[in-house]
Amino acid sequence: MPDGPAPLGADGTALVTGGTGTLGALVARHLVTEHGLRHLLLVSRRGPAAPGADALVEELTGLGARVTLAAADVADPDQLAAVLDRIDPEHPLTAVIHTAGVIRDGVITAQTPEHLATVLAPKTDAAHTLHELTKHQNLSAFVLFSSAAGTLGNPGQANYAAANTALDALAHRFRAEGTPAVSLAWGLWEEASGMTGELGTADLERGRRTGIAPMPTALALTLLDAGLRSDEAALVTARMDLAGLRGRAGSDSEVPAVLRALVRIPRKAARAAAATAEESFADRLAALAPAERLGSVVELVRTQAAAVLGHGTARAIGAEAAFKDAGFDSLAAVELRNRLATATGVRLPATLIFDHPTPTELAERLVEELGITGEAATSQAATVELDSLEQALATLSTADESARALVGARLLDLAARLGAAPAATATLVTGTGGSLDLDAATDEEIFQLMDGELGLS
Ligand SMILES: NC(=O)c1ccc[n+]([C@@H]2O[C@H](COP(=O)([O-])OP(=O)(O)OC[C@H]3O[C@@H](n4cnc5c(N)ncnc54)[C@H](OP(=O)(O)O)[C@@H]3O)[C@@H](O)[C@H]2O)c1
Repeated sequence: MPDGPAPLGADGTALVTGGTGTLGALVARHLVTEHGLRHLLLVSRRGPAAPGADALVEELTGLGARVTLAAADVADPDQLAAVLDRIDPEHPLTAVIHTAGVIRDGVITAQTPEHLATVLAPKTDAAHTLHELTKHQNLSAFVLFSSAAGTLGNPGQANYAAANTALDALAHRFRAEGTPAVSLAWGLWEEASGMTGELGTADLERGRRTGIAPMPTALALTLLDAGLRSDEAALVTARMDLAGLRGRAGSDSEVPAVLRALVRIPRKAARAAAATAEESFADRLAALAPAERLGSVVELVRTQAAAVLGHGTARAIGAEAAFKDAGFDSLAAVELRNRLATATGVRLPATLIFDHPTPTELAERLVEELGITGEAATSQAATVELDSLEQALATLSTADESARALVGARLLDLAARLGAAPAATATLVTGTGGSLDLDAATDEEIFQLMDGELGLS
């Protein structure tokens, strides 16, 4: 690809849709300072009434450009045609940079046909109309601002991903029809925008899990120029962080499909995940002492919640702190639900963290769901206690025969009560070598014996 800005025709007019938006304004400034364009038509629904519009015009004018601000809905063919009619024939349209767009994010069950139409209209409907209205004008550039969410996917952005993928496909078609179209599927720009300014901790972490790192403006504008010089119809213009993605993903399935050949999850992590899956969480929990179970589930919840928000440690999520205050939104809630369902094997509702707003309350629900209260749990717990007992017995001195006999008698008695051994005659061998039948002995005989063993008589 040759270096330097692509020739855009300095004497022509560049149309920037969404030109008063964050990226639209950055692009407009770049076209003036780096490409030497002198005639700009910036269109948005609010036009001159958009926040910062006056200052933008003043700045661009100061840089030597003539700027026209127009208020129009680019999804409306008539409004768009009327705006294009205003272009001075002495400075004909030479470049189209289509950045207009809106988002209506939400989990798939919350999506509606209206949300989809709202997101598609300024992107794809407008791109169609723009192409129809300009295809005979010998443009130098026809750039569509798309998003990597279409290529990589991004939770909560099904409608937005569809709209941007459609833009990528349209660029191929327009190019095939002779327009110098290119669709640039942007990763996240560092500069907070109307679309991205509201992103919270959970949103940013979700983005990082698609392998995307925020991109400084200078890098993004360099990529824009590379896109203008390219012969490709669709490019992903993003700053990738594959090492970060590798560190975050616990399994291959968590890596966006198109990146799986590039990002391999370390075998150790994959093996650990597989081993965990084999032994059910309920079994592992039941094997713990009852007093430890809730704490263990609280830790699980905190660890998974921290992972959803991109914190390196569970300590970032207080056991009694509200998920909402930690930065959870509905998408993060669903993600936590999914992670906990995978970890525990329990089907859980999407409203989980709303019904149980802190890690401790949620853990109590999980313990209940797992049913770690019945006989299975009791026998698991007893097995654990027996393991400890076995270890303790191994430390009993072989010389202390009476202690060994006393313990043995208790064990025989317990086994008999379980029906696991015939009722045995509990005989105690005393330290002096005598013996006492515990079942037949009177209380007095037993007390005497104990006092003797303890040196009290
Ligand atoms: N920022 C990022 O990190 C990022 C990443 C990937 C892709 N992108 C893409 O880059 C483009 C610009 O995004 P941005 O971040 O700069 O968002 P932004 O600040 O919200 O700008 C969007 C602009 O589009 C205008 N607009 C929306 N609907 C319109 C319509 N029907 N007709 C005319 N203008 C309309 C808005 O102005 P009005 O509301 O006044 O109409 C606003 O000026 C979008 O297409 C977005 O998908 C951005």
